[in-house]
Amino acid sequence: MKIALIGYGNMGQEIESLVKENGHLVVSISFKSRNEKLDLEGIRNADVVIDFSSFEIVVDNIRQVMRLKKPMVVGTTGWYDNVKKVQKIVQQHNGSLIYGQNFSVGANIFFSIVSHACLLLTKYDYDVFGIETHHSGKKDSPSGTARKLAEIIMKNFPSKTKLQIERVQGLIGKNELHFASVRGGRNFGQHEIVFDSPSDEIRLTHQAWNRKGFAKGALLAANFILSKKGFYNFNDIFIKTLGVSNK
Ligand SMILES: NC(=O)c1ccc[n+]([C@@H]2O[C@H](COP(=O)([O-])OP(=O)(O)OC[C@H]3O[C@@H](n4cnc5c(N)ncnc54)[C@H](OP(=O)(O)O)[C@@H]3O)[C@@H](O)[C@H]2O)c1
Repeated sequence: MKIALIGYGNMGQEIESLVKENGHLVVSISFKSRNEKLDLEGIRNADVVIDFSSFEIVVDNIRQVMRLKKPMVVGTTGWYDNVKKVQKIVQQHNGSLIYGQNFSVGANIFFSIVSHACLLLTKYDYDVFGIETHHSGKKDSPSGTARKLAEIIMKNFPSKTKLQIERVQGLIGKNELHFASVRGGRNFGQHEIVFDSPSDEIRLTHQAWNRKGFAKGALLAANFILSKKGFYNFNDIFIKTLGVSNK
């Protein structure tokens, strides 16, 4: 595969190493420094484009890549209020795009575990909340993974009807799912879901030890999107491929 990278920070560099290890080729890197523009010429020469940049520029990147009719993997998080708009852009160009809140295999299995835990525990006297911790350089908050987990919990734990990501100044409503975000240090990403009852507590945690899992998943997604048309979410195809359920 000839790959064009957009964004050359932590993830861009991790993917570049993995691409080389796997015998693929990086033919273009956009935004090695801030004042550059998207490398349209390089992208024209690529089979697939992988974006790990920033929520501030990702929608514009997508628009430009779709104009060039290149399949695209979007790992960048924090732009999900624009999902419908982006889906429309992809459809208008008869393009191909796959995005993922978290590309690691472990996190996608964790989504299914949390979904099943909710289905079991919602029948008993449990409350549920979430906490995520990321390194001090992470720009978006809450994380894309936290948003995905909140979506799964609210689907499968009917007493929670409202996501609360703000600092709670008073009593929290029983219908509110509180998901707190902590930023600091070097954590690659920890997501913890806590189920609490009058008698006990269950804590489910996913901890990323490094960025390799995200990079591997992004390459899996690149391989998938090469021969497809349409707009996909990585978790949906992951569930279908592995046959795990995530109701
Ligand atoms: N889906 C997943 O599995 C997954 C996993 C990990 C991370 N992520 C997401 O991927 C994205 C990148 O993460 P990262 O850790 O690689 O971040 P990072 O180290 O900050 O790298 C971001 C890259 O984009 C560039 N950039 C940022 N804002 C820009 C702007 N306004 N104009 C031009 N270039 C800009 C940065 O340039 P500078 O170096 O000049 O700032 C850098 O090259 C984030 O949204 C993160 O949440 C997703």
